[in-house]
Amino acid sequence: MSNFEREAAAPTGPAVAVLAALDSAAGPILAEAERQGIAFVRRLFEEWHSGSNRFDRPGEIILEAWQGDRLLGLGGLNRDPYTAEEGVGRLRHIYVLGSQRHLGVGTLLVGHLLGRAESHFRTVRLRAASPDAAAFYRRLGFAECDDPAATHLIRVPPIP
Ligand SMILES: CC(C)(COP(=O)(O)OP(=O)(O)OC[C@H]1O[C@@H](n2cnc3c(N)ncnc32)[C@H](O)[C@@H]1OP(=O)(O)O)[C@@H](O)C(=O)NCCC(=O)NCCS
Repeated sequence: MSNFEREAAAPTGPAVAVLAALDSAAGPILAEAERQGIAFVRRLFEEWHSGSNRFDRPGEIILEAWQGDRLLGLGGLNRDPYTAEEGVGRLRHIYVLGSQRHLGVGTLLVGHLLGRAESHFRTVRLRAASPDAAAFYRRLGFAECDDPAATHLIRVPPIP
């Protein structure tokens, strides 16, 4: 277990699983994101169903957080398509249901994604969707970066 996973894991908390199919279980997440004007969840569905992004290239993964049979959130790790540099991953489409926020679900998902990234990437970047999202990533140890394609980055494994 990586440092990130050790920090994020809770003994009775949600379970994290690799996303196998984007189906009706994710319907509430898509519907809520649409209501909130967050477009990236629809993009995730479209790219998944068209096959253009299945998070299945080396080092990539997409994860879900479940509590029983309820899907609480999801998020993925791609090789960063906005740089030609090797060893750069990108967090994509992290979303937690509104009723489940501030309970550590986002931390759990990102922790597992960064744990995965440790063996494939040197750096993980992302573009924060809002100031709230930026605060979330800063809290997780990401640094702000000055790049047209990314707002935050972290080295994996992190510098102690
Ligand atoms: C951003 C998001 C993924 C965070 O998920 P979460 O499960 O609520 O996150 P956590 O509970 O693990 O939060 C950990 C810490 O991050 C910070 N944080 C989380 N959400 C925050 C917010 N809206 N504003 C400021 N800080 C926030 C807090 O310090 C929080 O700890 P606290 O709850 O004890 O204050 C979730 O709010 C979300 O899905 N938002 C809509 C979609 C989105 O913006 N996704 C990010 C795309 S870049």
